Amino acid sequence: MADKKARLTVDGLDEAIELPVYSGSEGPDVIDVRPLTGNGLFTYDPGFVSTAACESKITYIDGAKGVLLHGGYPIEQLAEKSDYLEVCYLLLNGELPTDEEKDKFVSTIKNHTMVHEQMSHFFNGFRRDAHPMSIMVACVGALSAFYHDSLDINDAHHREVCAYRLIAKMPTLAAMCYKYSIGMPFQYPRNDLNYAENFLHMMFGNPCEEYVPNPILAKAMDKIFLLHADHEQNASTSTVRLAGSSGANPFACIASGVAALWGPAHGGANEAVLTMLEEIGDESNIEEFVAKAKDPNDPFRLMGFGHRVYRNFDPRAKVMKATCDQVLTELGVEDEPLLKIAKRLEQIALEDEYFVARKLYPNVDFYSGIILKAIGIPTSMFTVIFALSRTIGWISHWSEFHSSPNKIGRPRQLYTGPSRRDYSK
Ligand code: SDX
Repeated sequence: MADKKARLTVDGLDEAIELPVYSGSEGPDVIDVRPLTGNGLFTYDPGFVSTAACESKITYIDGAKGVLLHGGYPIEQLAEKSDYLEVCYLLLNGELPTDEEKDKFVSTIKNHTMVHEQMSHFFNGFRRDAHPMSIMVACVGALSAFYHDSLDINDAHHREVCAYRLIAKMPTLAAMCYKYSIGMPFQYPRNDLNYAENFLHMMFGNPCEEYVPNPILAKAMDKIFLLHADHEQNASTSTVRLAGSSGANPFACIASGVAALWGPAHGGANEAVLTMLEEIGDESNIEEFVAKAKDPNDPFRLMGFGHRVYRNFDPRAKVMKATCDQVLTELGVEDEPLLKIAKRLEQIALEDEYFVARKLYPNVDFYSGIILKAIGIPTSMFTVIFALSRTIGWISHWSEFHSSPNKIGRPRQLYTGPSRRDYSK
């Protein structure tokens, strides 16, 4: 029910158009513009800067205040007190699990971590030097070739089984991408390890000796998974929702999210940050790169800076920076050259009028790459880790979309091409 009304007067229309205005539990009111089509009008919002595409209860972001809430809980508190699988449960169900519910959920995920043995044959079709994201897009979509028993999108139990399978299998597929790229055998998951420990085991273990996970690295890995879990209607999540609106199966929809995340303006930024820091190479070169980033004629942007929504610090970046310091100190590599360049770059950017005026702050990707590098993960795998982490966000939004009556998404356009003309040659 609309709380308020907006009235739009348009030159050429005799009467003002009345538009319902709705209020959420947090954040800006929204104007329901659907009555515009009855008056022969569309809204125009390239990049959806001012568009609320849906109603959702999962995650709330206040970009001006640098606030991120999952199910109402601040990301800082979840990062300090929770863990990735507990946040997965929260995003899927809207409430934190009881101890009993959590134990059951963790056990269920553990028992879905293997992939069909036929999937291992997929990899042989790829070059060893294929970018792991290209393999992930293929393998995630191909999961729908194996799980015909849970593809009814209108069945809540099927949606739940798909979510569990995806949460459980993404680390296994991600690690397989890495092992394949270095010519080492795939590592089967181990049920005696927790989620992050198991991922590190599948990444760095080998058949010749037992892998003993480093608890510091496992905790940092879990925190990186948690900080990337969900982020409202970002580009890849919006892609998953739109793909889902056609009735496509969940694995195909998640594969579309993997593809959208790959871009350097989005999830590919963490890989691009490391490449940029390595290209800068020394603190003495920072000024030159900052000048390039400010030059309107130079397409170079400072990777890891800026955000469509945050016009303040990305709260995840603050937690990531603290984790970065802790991991590097505990690993005894606190003088990591790239970290020094990153910290100096951040300091310069935060004092520079160009970045201050545009409210460009470090985002979640700015420090994550340095932690991943310290853990021993190659740069090419950074966005794969982001995709692994964000799968829970994608599948939670996909499930929310299908849990209530919905329509296929079909935006319109402002057409500026040729008007009708007859064919004559
Ligand atoms: C993620 O949406 C999400 O929630 C995403 C994400 C998630 O969790 O899902 O948070 C994950 O994608 C984080 C963002 C990762 N991307 C990067 O770090 C790439 C570098 N950042 C930029 O490409 C950019 O900041 C975006 C894409 C993130 C945001 O772009 P917008 O909102 O479209 O902003 P804009 O391009 O309109 O920029 C506004 C101004 C422009 O200058 P003017 O035209 O006003 O002169 O700021 C400038 C831009 O040129 N600008 C930058 C800049 N980012 C914006 N200039 C230099 N370096 C940058 N990084």
